[in-house]
Amino acid sequence: MSDNSIKISYKSKIKELIKHNKFYYEKSSPKINDDDYDRLKKEIIEIEKKNPHLIDKNSPLFQVGFKPSKNFKKFKHREKMLSLSNIFSKDDLINFQKKLNNFLDLSSDKNFEFSVEPKIDGISASLTYKNGILKYGLSRGDGSEGELITENLKTISDIPRQILNKDFPKDIDIRGEVFIENDEFERLKGNFANPRNAASGSLRQKDPNQTKKIPLRFIAYSYGFISKNKFKKQSEFLLSLKNWGFKTNKFNKVISGINELVDNHLYMEKKRFELNYDVDGLVYKINQIKLQNRLGNISNAPRWATAHKFSAKSSFSIIENIEIQIGRTGALTPVAKIKPVNIGGVLVSNASLHNEDEINRKDIRIGDHVKIERAGDVIPHVISVDLSKRPNNTKKFIFPNNCPSCGSKILKEYNQLTKKYDAVRRCSSEGYECDKISIEKIKHFISKDAFNIDGLGKKVVEKFWELKLIRYPQDIFHLNFNKISSLDGWGKLSSSNLKFSIENAKSITLDKLIFSLGIRHIGQENAKLLSDNIKTIDNLCKIDTSYNFLNFTNIDGIGETQVKSLKKFFSKDINIKIIKELKKILRIKKIENKVGGKLSNKTFLITGKLSGISRAEAKSIIENYSGKILSSVNNKLNYLIIGEKPTQKKVVKAKELNVIILKQNEFLKMIN
Ligand code: IVH
Repeated sequence: MSDNSIKISYKSKIKELIKHNKFYYEKSSPKINDDDYDRLKKEIIEIEKKNPHLIDKNSPLFQVGFKPSKNFKKFKHREKMLSLSNIFSKDDLINFQKKLNNFLDLSSDKNFEFSVEPKIDGISASLTYKNGILKYGLSRGDGSEGELITENLKTISDIPRQILNKDFPKDIDIRGEVFIENDEFERLKGNFANPRNAASGSLRQKDPNQTKKIPLRFIAYSYGFISKNKFKKQSEFLLSLKNWGFKTNKFNKVISGINELVDNHLYMEKKRFELNYDVDGLVYKINQIKLQNRLGNISNAPRWATAHKFSAKSSFSIIENIEIQIGRTGALTPVAKIKPVNIGGVLVSNASLHNEDEINRKDIRIGDHVKIERAGDVIPHVISVDLSKRPNNTKKFIFPNNCPSCGSKILKEYNQLTKKYDAVRRCSSEGYECDKISIEKIKHFISKDAFNIDGLGKKVVEKFWELKLIRYPQDIFHLNFNKISSLDGWGKLSSSNLKFSIENAKSITLDKLIFSLGIRHIGQENAKLLSDNIKTIDNLCKIDTSYNFLNFTNIDGIGETQVKSLKKFFSKDINIKIIKELKKILRIKKIENKVGGKLSNKTFLITGKLSGISRAEAKSIIENYSGKILSSVNNKLNYLIIGEKPTQKKVVKAKELNVIILKQNEFLKMIN
């Protein structure tokens, strides 16, 4: 067949696939049987294997198996389902241990006992058992709220429906990983890009009978809510899981000492190729539960655990083009468009080039043969150039001086602290004047940790933008669903699902709203600090006129960089206008305080060195009990906690203002 006829045949098969997908997912009435559908997919994949340059964006490679249904009921996790921070090297590991020691006020080289567990690359799930009976099961969702997928989970034979052991807690959430074994995945390969997608697609089928067709496994590793926690160590809990009838990983170990951890990492890095499932690293968890509790969490991840990733998988390809992507903060990131290559089961066609300096340092050019690396869920990047293969006519890549989207000048910022120019160039426009920045801001607005709107992913935002359905975040709440249901790829069902999730999203907490605005340097933690201080959406609207930004520097955790960024953000009319528009639409929910606010409305300041507890830990305890930390002695301060060698000035001022002075032991007594 000639190149052109292959292309024509490929395109027509893709068109056919899109049509049948629509019948199946949008209208729930397939027009061909499963075998014919699978055959069509296989034919497409065969053509793609020989002609990777043809691969279309609608290729089955990019399809998450059978598209998951969006109709699952949302359900709140009783304890948040956290994610993990990553480390990659021995240095990172040393640093991780040092931070733990600092927080606990121990000497910086003290070793901890860790529960070391393979990190299976699957989908996490939480199973709630009451009186030994499996009541319901949830996917992770955004960590606070998951999807109710009980019936699908019940199809997994590794998941016990009933547990009779006397020592099984009366009420407990068992957490673990759902995955598919590699040989099973081989059997289904035509349908999914990688085993993880297969597990995820299967688990979120509308019809549990579909889930049943794909043999999923479950390995248990932790708990969420637990009544009467009698466990002292994570390793003890893992043993109990096994006794209760759950599968646990046979490579779970207890290890202490950096060198011992690194040796085990090297061992498992090789061993993993013998396993029948994908493992992308090792999870290190502080073994002592008491210490875990003291260490607590930072936003979405525990302080007491981390994932030590295995080294990346790599491959070789050719750079076909270098494009400049624009982020929501205006940062310009060069991205190499490469000839698609399969790296560890994922088809890669983009690779990050980081920034201008990196391109110059490696002299990366269009046409170059390059090595590409991909580590777990991290974006693939270009590692090196094979100069011996460089074609004759290549040119040095010149970074543009103007924003490729809006034409504004691009700038490098000068960092007052490091006395250096930033490596990143940024578009100098005012945000919503630049189309690309606007799109990225809206994508951030709807993202998982922000408004988290089901059915409104990044691709949909791009499409709605193209169709001029949205320009600003508030437009999401005024969409015309009749129009949407008639769009290509949409139907009545999907548009009414979208309407439903947008309606749900109108109820949101103030910290999430602040985070979703995409203010530079204001992440989830800072957004929480600000929302405690700003309190209402009315106040947020008034920030431009009535706010003394200096107040923000009183918030422990908010520094000059953040204040500068906030000033800039709130000085722009468009940002205020957006907040005012949102105010008309949203219902602001109260944040629930977990521990019950023993210290609520109380303010604290710590001076001097505490013993046996770091300042960070004391701070985290106060905040867990809903108390607040101030950064100076003023008439809003209730308690000054003094350790060794307190700052005399603070003590004197506190006495003047009648602030209660607490010694460390008095403070500890106060909180029990
Ligand atoms: S513990 C405590 N243990 O890794 C907080 N997670 O990036 C986190 N995972 O969503 C969970 N194996 O899907 C934990 N032995 C293990 C794990 C594990 C795999 C996954 C899990 C989680 C993700 C965190």
